[in-house]
Amino acid sequence: MQVPPGQKRLIRTLNGQEVDRPPFWLMRQAGRYLPEYRAIRKEVPDFLTLCYSPDLAVEVTLQPIRRYGMDAAILFSDILVVPDALGVKVAFQQGEGPVLEPIRTVEALDRLSLSGFHDHLTPVYRTLSRLRQDLPQETALIGFAGAPWTLAAYVVEGSGSKDFAVARTLARTDEPLFQRLIDLLTDAIITFLDRQVQAGAEVLQLFDSWAGVLPEDQLERWCIRPVVRIITELRQRHPDVPVIHFPRGAGLSLPKVAAAVNAQAIGLDTSIPIAEAVRILPKDLCLQGNLDPVSLVAGGPAMLAQLAQLREVTRGRPWVFNLGHGVLQQTDPGEVQRLADELRTGSP
Ligand code: CP3
Repeated sequence: MQVPPGQKRLIRTLNGQEVDRPPFWLMRQAGRYLPEYRAIRKEVPDFLTLCYSPDLAVEVTLQPIRRYGMDAAILFSDILVVPDALGVKVAFQQGEGPVLEPIRTVEALDRLSLSGFHDHLTPVYRTLSRLRQDLPQETALIGFAGAPWTLAAYVVEGSGSKDFAVARTLARTDEPLFQRLIDLLTDAIITFLDRQVQAGAEVLQLFDSWAGVLPEDQLERWCIRPVVRIITELRQRHPDVPVIHFPRGAGLSLPKVAAAVNAQAIGLDTSIPIAEAVRILPKDLCLQGNLDPVSLVAGGPAMLAQLAQLREVTRGRPWVFNLGHGVLQQTDPGEVQRLADELRTGSP
């Protein structure tokens, strides 16, 4: 028997309803820190093949749930499947992160299109519908996408970067071109997330991982505006599906971002002191975060003390436990166990 989504701990919390304890899940909870992930990863020639193989993607999504019983599973995929499906060549090279064919001219942008987009992403939708059947009944299923700015940053830069200076320069020197790219990505993300919900996603997270490199005017234009359009459109189509927005690095702009985008929850990165977030954000807005992933690597009593502080400060308001960024590869699975045990059974 399926538990109605509205009774799951994560969804209740996102809707501001009472729960017995705060829900928890971890960004990058499936991944290379798990030996069973590395075993499957060895079987495929490259990372994107894993993302586009429903049997394997379902299996790696379930691996952390079996071990730790998180309150939510996040679809195993990557934010870069969206540019890939639009026709940008994307490759993941061992140990080097993503490499993309850079899009910096009208001619290059003209070659991208939404025709064939859903065909390309059919394996992702299939993964979601299988997960919805295979997950434990109390576990919520999270779908996700990268936000337009973060995707545009990778697409223009052609790789990861510490400051995305090439992408930020294009945004200022050729605004019309950059706007067209953002608009295309925004349209793609809306239809992608819509299909994810149709396939079984019960909650959506928007990863704006590089929001923090933009100054205020650019943040408004390239992060806030397109995300408002995405959330408004999705809420019309799926009023019951909560959205978590993760504007990593937004710092002092968090209240402005949160007020504008109006998501059910805001994801907090490691750099924002949780007490400060509690103070500056509306008290009915659900917060998600923000244990330092390095604290989880270090583990032990110091990590549990950090957790106790997070609990103390967030008491009495809707809060989803998460890290401030993804689980690091060098994390000991035993420390994740320690954390999960404490979250499930420790005093709320
Ligand atoms: O959270 C989860 O467990 C779900 C799966 C997931 C992955 N990536 C798996 C992954 C999610 C939600 C993402 C999101 C993602 N991908 C983001 C946003 C979150 C963030 O970290 O800021 C970004 C920026 C990417 C782009 C990306 N994908 C990079 C920069 C890299 C290389 C870095 C690295 O760790 O190697 C990836 C690869 C990637 N995505 C891996 C995994 C498990 C490792 C690939 C491998 O197994 O070889």
